[in-house]
Formats: sequence, C-alpha cells, structure tokens
Amino acid sequence: MANEEKKLVEIENLRKYFPIKGTPGPGVQAVQDVSLYIKKGETLGLVGESGCGKTTLGRTILRLYEPTGGKIIYDGQTIFDNPLDKEGKPLGKAKSVNMLPYRKKMQIIFQDPSASLDPRMTVGEIIGEAIDIHKLAANKKDRADMIKGLLARVGLNTEHANRYPHEFSGGQQQRVGIARALAVKPEFIVCDEPISALDVSIQSQVVNMLEDMQAEMGLTYLFIAHDLSVVRHISNRIGVMYLGSLVELGESYELNRHPIHPYTQTLLSAVPVPDPQLSRTRKRIILEGDVPSPMNPPSGCRFHTRCPYATKKCSEEMPKFKEHEPGHWAACHLLDK
Ligand SMILES: Nc1ncnc2c1ncn2[C@@H]1O[C@H](COP(=O)(O)OP(=O)(O)O)[C@@H](O)[C@H]1O
Ligand code: SF4
Ligand SMILES: [Mg+2]
Repeated sequence: MANEEKKLVEIENLRKYFPIKGTPGPGVQAVQDVSLYIKKGETLGLVGESGCGKTTLGRTILRLYEPTGGKIIYDGQTIFDNPLDKEGKPLGKAKSVNMLPYRKKMQIIFQDPSASLDPRMTVGEIIGEAIDIHKLAANKKDRADMIKGLLARVGLNTEHANRYPHEFSGGQQQRVGIARALAVKPEFIVCDEPISALDVSIQSQVVNMLEDMQAEMGLTYLFIAHDLSVVRHISNRIGVMYLGSLVELGESYELNRHPIHPYTQTLLSAVPVPDPQLSRTRKRIILEGDVPSPMNPPSGCRFHTRCPYATKKCSEEMPKFKEHEPGHWAACHLLDK
C-alpha cells in the first residue's frame, strides 16, 4: 500500500521544449508546465494519445532529458530548479545536482525492448554493466551470482547470461530490460509503455511481474500507457495528458467513475465499461479534428480546438490546474464556476 504521507517524486511546472535548429521560436513544446507528485510505494498511471509528451515527461523527471524549466524534487531533495517567468525567461540561475547517486535510485523500463538493449553485449554484460557503474558487487563471484539471481527473478534461464538479445523473444527481452533496471535496487521506476510492443498473450505476465516486484521491493512506479484500460487496474492514481499539458489527475477509481475534464471524458467514452449501469450513462464521444502540432500549440486551453464545450475564454486563457475535489485535479474553465 502506498504511504499516504510521503512523496517520493515531486515536480512543479516542469517544462521540456526541444528547440529545432534553424527554426525560430521555442521549438517542440513537448511538456508544458506539468505539476504532480508520486507517493512512495504507489503506481501513478500516465495516459494520453501518442505524441502528447508522456515519454518526454518520464525522461525529463529522470533528467535523461535536461528540463527547460520548473522544479524536480526527489525524496525531499531538489535535484533541478529553474523557475521561469510568464514569458518563459529564467528568473535566476538553474540549480541542478550530480545525478550519479540518483541514477541508482531512479530507473526506466523502455517501450521497445529490442532497441533498448545493446545488440553487441550479452545479457549478462548488459545487467553486469549496471552493477559495475554503481560498484554494487564485492567481487567477480558476487557479480555473477547477482546476474544469475536477477535472471531467475525475471523468469529467465540463468544459463542464458552468455546469449545476445536477438536470441530472445520480445517478452524475454523486456524481462532483460526489467532485470537491468532492478540490478541497481532502485526505488522509483518509470515504466514507459513496457507492454505495448509485446504480444497480447504475454502482456499480463509482464504486468503481474512488475506488480509482484513492487510489492516485494516497495517500488514506486510512473506507469505510462496510451490506453486507460492498461493502467486503470494497476494504478493508485492516474494522470491524463493532452498535447504536453496535464489536464486531469485523480484516484484511479474516482477518475474512471467520475472524470471531470472534457478530454478525459472523451478518452473514457472509448473504453468499454464492464459495469452496465455506468455503461448506460456513458455516451461515446468522438473527437473531431487532429491533435494540433506541439510546435505551434493552440492558445489558451490546448484542447480548445477539439473540445465540444469550448468558449471564447478557452482560446484566450490557459486554465489553471486546480484541486476541485480532494485529490482530484483538473485544468478546465468549466470547472471554475
Ligand atoms: N528528441 C526530440 N526532439 C524533438 N522532438 C521530440 C523529441 N522527442 C519527442 N519529441 C516530440 O515531442 C512530442 C512528445 O513526444 P513523446 O514524449 O515521445 O510523446 P508520447 O510518449 O506521449 O508518445 C512529440 O511531438 C514528439 O515528436
Ligand atoms: S477549458 Fe474550455 S476548451 Fe479547455 S477543456 Fe475546458 S471547456 Fe474545453
Ligand atoms: Mg512514448
């Protein structure tokens, strides 16, 4: 169970833009001032359509991408701070820390296991590299035992440490990716669509394994998916992103029963509901138009070009992300009345 009080990860107004060479302006505005926290031991699900900034947000929290602005606090320690003014100009000098000790605490499991494993290294070398970087093994035998233990823990044959990634199936490769993340005994793992590239038949095995490990090791997850149906069972809370912005966040059950942001309502209307009573009240809403480009996002509420409830104010003013009911946050002018 998640510890109610303790926040492990906190971000405030986190922003990540990718400047485009030779093009004026801020470039791709992939993550726009996202604020949230993740409690120790919980799973925070993060959903939204492809391209809305989920991966960028996950990697920026880990500082695998250098943030453009905002603040990241890990276990009470500020690991990045660069407050920006309204025009996006830094208000002072950015503060950041040496990430090496945090690299051990914060890990990532990638969406595409085959692309995330070096094809020239054996799986033993891949897992051993993580152990070596953080000097976790006392000697050679200790190191070999650790690798074997990790392979066994993720359900792989311990004799296969000398094989190369291409000799494994997609599901087995993802297990290697998980073993690599676990090798450093992390506290926090960004699971970036860890099952999207896998056969449906093995997706639930991998999810179950991640849940077992969480219970065993007290891990905290940011679990990214493009589909609410994947995260709703495994997440304590869920955040919904649209075009770089976090539009809603709440307890998983509450957000599924009672979504308050128009975009979440459209997302949920597309998910089959097992509860017949809820299913009768939930009309399918089809969104018109394409997702706008994050290089040139709409003014005001980024959703206004597709929102069925948009008013003039929506195109002029960006709605604030506010707590509307205890633990239930959203950014929409409709809710401010
Ligand atoms: N390294 C990068 N350089 C430039 N643009 C990028 C880079 N990585 C992601 N983007 C852009 O940022 C936006 C968000 O991408 P991403 O975070 O991968 O979305 P998601 O994971 O939700 O599919 C997309 O428009 C994508 O094209
Ligand atoms: S602020 Fe306006 S455009 Fe944005 S979600 Fe709310 S009603 Fe729709
Ligand atoms: Mg992604």
